[in-house]
Amino acid sequence: MKRDPELVVALPGGAPLAAALARSLRCGWSELALHQFPDGETGVRIDASVEGCCVMLAGSLNQPDAKTLPLIFAADAARDLGASQVGLIAPYLAYMRQDIRFHPGEAITSRTYARLLSSSLDFLVTVDPHLHRVHELGEIYSLRTQIVPAAPLIARWLRSHVPSPWLIGPDEESAQWVAEVARLTGAPWTVLRKTRRGDRDVSVRIAGRERWPERVPVLLDDIVSTGETMLAAASLLKRTGMRVPVCIAVHALLETQAYRHLLAGGVSRLLTCDTVPHPSNAIRMAPLLARAARQISTNQNARP
Ligand code: R5P
Repeated sequence: MKRDPELVVALPGGAPLAAALARSLRCGWSELALHQFPDGETGVRIDASVEGCCVMLAGSLNQPDAKTLPLIFAADAARDLGASQVGLIAPYLAYMRQDIRFHPGEAITSRTYARLLSSSLDFLVTVDPHLHRVHELGEIYSLRTQIVPAAPLIARWLRSHVPSPWLIGPDEESAQWVAEVARLTGAPWTVLRKTRRGDRDVSVRIAGRERWPERVPVLLDDIVSTGETMLAAASLLKRTGMRVPVCIAVHALLETQAYRHLLAGGVSRLLTCDTVPHPSNAIRMAPLLARAARQISTNQNARP
């Protein structure tokens, strides 16, 4: 089947990802040129020919507010300039956690954000979005989507580095990732009960009676942001006499200060996938993202 030429365009902060995708796809890539006008508005320019191309905008959507308008402008510009389709390869997809109204009057931002991206793009590829009360991206996104799971790569890392792990999710929401990595490694698993009273006020407790003191505890979550969830879980394990855990997260959203706080607070090592550039990155996702991008871009009949 004939494929349109592919072009990867790096969104702000997405140059290393764009280069890695282009290497895997054997296509060209270009950085989106941005200009900040004195009045605070942003101009964007695509410095490559997009006519007839499948344009893949590449970049993670951590710190999303500053990145989203350039992304929408770039998508519209690419279409205007003759791109055959425009997709987004965003290893971290923002605004998935506010999936209900937790307090009266709050916006359900996951839905609004999904509508915004869906109105400008043909497809979206991402790694383990935070699906909780929304079970599938298709419930809120009306474009073709493909999810790349991190579990097989995390399981592979564990098999070669931690001979006898006990997988622990810090809250019930993490059960889906923990259960899958446990299935792939054959390790036992447990999830803790979490209470969040504020952005930085978290406590966890262990509910069941199951303990595996002879195994290495591995704390696994999809997102580490302030680090408070990981810290609370690590100190609970310490209090119950378990070994120091290995901590793994798919998406590292934590800033330098929070990372220092985490390492100083009893987490000896944090390991993450490179969905968000961070010193803790140890698992590369680009080859799987490139494969998924090629699949979804050539399968234009797939249901949104
Ligand atoms: C929550 O639902 C997520 O799965 C993570 O547990 C959470 O985002 C971690 O946040 P923090 O590091 O700020 O405690």
